Amino acid sequence: MSKLEQHSIRVFAPATVANVACGFDSLGFAINMPGDIVEMSLHEHSGVRIRDITGDNGRLPREAENNTAGVSVLALLEHIGSQQGLEIVLHKRMPLGSGLGSSAASSVAALYAANLLLGEPLEKAELLPFAMKAEERACGSPHADNVAPGLLGGFVLIRSYDPLDVIQVDYPENLYCTILHPHIELRTEDSRRILRKHIKLKDAVIQWSNLAGLIAGLAKSDYDLISRSLNDIIFEPVRSLLIPGFDRVKASAIASGALGCSISGSGPSVFALSTTEVKAGEVGDAMQNSFAELQLDSDIFVSPVNSIGPRVLAPDEDPTPNRMYQQ
Ligand code: HSE
Repeated sequence: MSKLEQHSIRVFAPATVANVACGFDSLGFAINMPGDIVEMSLHEHSGVRIRDITGDNGRLPREAENNTAGVSVLALLEHIGSQQGLEIVLHKRMPLGSGLGSSAASSVAALYAANLLLGEPLEKAELLPFAMKAEERACGSPHADNVAPGLLGGFVLIRSYDPLDVIQVDYPENLYCTILHPHIELRTEDSRRILRKHIKLKDAVIQWSNLAGLIAGLAKSDYDLISRSLNDIIFEPVRSLLIPGFDRVKASAIASGALGCSISGSGPSVFALSTTEVKAGEVGDAMQNSFAELQLDSDIFVSPVNSIGPRVLAPDEDPTPNRMYQQ
């Protein structure tokens, strides 16, 4: 069946780690798991309808104009002037308010599915502004450091927002991410509100030098340089106050051999990078053990960097753990 003859499709879009320590709103990467699944079908009536959402415990808006999956697809339809009706079933397979790009995974999966069903009127990268619109609806800020890597895969640098200039950054083949997801929730909007609006010049110099070092380290596969550069001296000291046990979790990740460790996106998840999958697993055990000492529960995800972003699923394929998060 050709793409144009298809009436329904299932798409998976991955979780993402935004900021990557020193790249606030500028750098992010995608991981293989967790992520969201969108089922989308053509519908006879124009507009976008959300038929069902699973895995959110009834917490996400069902109206398309208030839901990131719906907002992004409505913006796409308007942009291309299409009256095509689309129906969405969204399967949330990742926690809300986790710092793993939950809203971004929904909008990226929905946009990718819609673009395919509509016969690919746009290139994948051209879908980015619609996903950013959904981010703005979700948390008041059109930041792209979740949606860009979610859509394009790999590490993505947003060099400029106006005009939008998005760069895919080379990275080492052997790079594994460990995520500790504490069972607490932080709204991105809230964790942006607490940030200082002005920073000292000497801090800015350290931060942008680290970001440049991180990009260079990734591109040259220089693990020592990556490790030296994975520092956030501006945002982590403020946001980590909202994450119980952050300092001990980070210390345990570094002590067990991680290249570096910081807050994933706006938190509360914490990420670490390692050079092997085995090491990433050991780092995860250490992080989870030190977090458990506080009598707090968490999940651990270990994943290589996801190089492709969203993908079409076979009819019965489910790349996510079959579990419900306590949303
Ligand atoms: N760059 C954004 C922030 C990512 O840190 O607020 C949110 O996931």
